[in-house]
Amino acid sequence: MYYKLLNRTGEKVPEIGLGTWGIGGATSADLTADEAFVAAIRNAIEAGMKLIDTAEMYGAGHTEELVGRAIKGYKRDEVFIISKVWHSHLRRDDLLDSAKKSVQRLGTYMDLFLVHWPNPSVPLQETIRAMEEVAEQGLTRYIGVSNFSAELLDEARSFTSKYEIVVDEVKYSITDRAAEKDVLPYCEKNSIALIAYTPIEHGKIGEGPIGDAIQKVAKKYSKTPVQVALNWLTYHEPVIAIPKASKKEHIIEDAGASDWRLSSEDFEFLTRARWIFCKTRKFGLVHKASCLRLSWS
Ligand SMILES: NC(=O)c1ccc[n+]([C@@H]2O[C@H](COP(=O)([O-])OP(=O)(O)OC[C@H]3O[C@@H](n4cnc5c(N)ncnc54)[C@H](OP(=O)(O)O)[C@@H]3O)[C@@H](O)[C@H]2O)c1
Repeated sequence: MYYKLLNRTGEKVPEIGLGTWGIGGATSADLTADEAFVAAIRNAIEAGMKLIDTAEMYGAGHTEELVGRAIKGYKRDEVFIISKVWHSHLRRDDLLDSAKKSVQRLGTYMDLFLVHWPNPSVPLQETIRAMEEVAEQGLTRYIGVSNFSAELLDEARSFTSKYEIVVDEVKYSITDRAAEKDVLPYCEKNSIALIAYTPIEHGKIGEGPIGDAIQKVAKKYSKTPVQVALNWLTYHEPVIAIPKASKKEHIIEDAGASDWRLSSEDFEFLTRARWIFCKTRKFGLVHKASCLRLSWS
């Protein structure tokens, strides 16, 4: 597994981590498959995906409990745990309470704590100052944001005093390139990591819009389309990808997207496999509206 420097912190993290949405439930807790999910997280750690992305919202907190169970037995500094505070908990007292509960469920401190989604009804300055308090109290080592535009990220950074915002976690895949408009250039310019979520479009990346191009490159490297799509993402210096996988064969495949690199020619070939994605903004969330295929050569 290749590691990347988490910008100016000097911290090194795996370029492919494990997403956990759906592990232990979605919006409510699912207690029916705990052993299998704990085993899945351990399989991912063994395969090298030692960065684990979770959130207080996932499984209504149960996902964090399963992550906590899974990492027992590993040296704490061997794994890098990310959790997130939900947008309804962004007032100072709520945020501190959420952070404490996340730490309780995980059974350990967080390495990185993110604001899951912005909330325009709470002053951003209050939220960012509270994030710094969470770090100050030793509940997390680093702080960051998720689903922030470059503009909002810039505003958030202006409110920090002691801790830097080290990450923006946003949707980014080879077929959904909205992040390239402003977030990726901003992260590149300011040495901020971009954590790419839904990086394999729920496993359908090889069947998607530029499936032909991905499959052609996959064949050339004797890799799978998922591995090529993830490698294309991590080719970008600030990008870390967090596919969610619970099946062992998926975990092994996803981890196998690292330890090698596409050539610059093949990276460019895939980048030119062009699509135009039209985006609409509805209720503050980004929705894919439609897309139009153009030719690639
Ligand atoms: N910050 C945010 O707002 C936000 C939003 C969405 C997601 N996220 C994070 O990002 C993570 C990943 O995103 P996601 O879960 O939306 O989508 P994803 O990672 O693109 O897709 C996950 C799905 O793909 C399947 N899969 C995994 N590896 C595969 C492979 N090699 N071949 C075929 N199928 C494969 C998984 O199946 P199995 O589980 O059956 O193996 C699962 O159903 C989430 O789990 C979460 O941690 C964050």
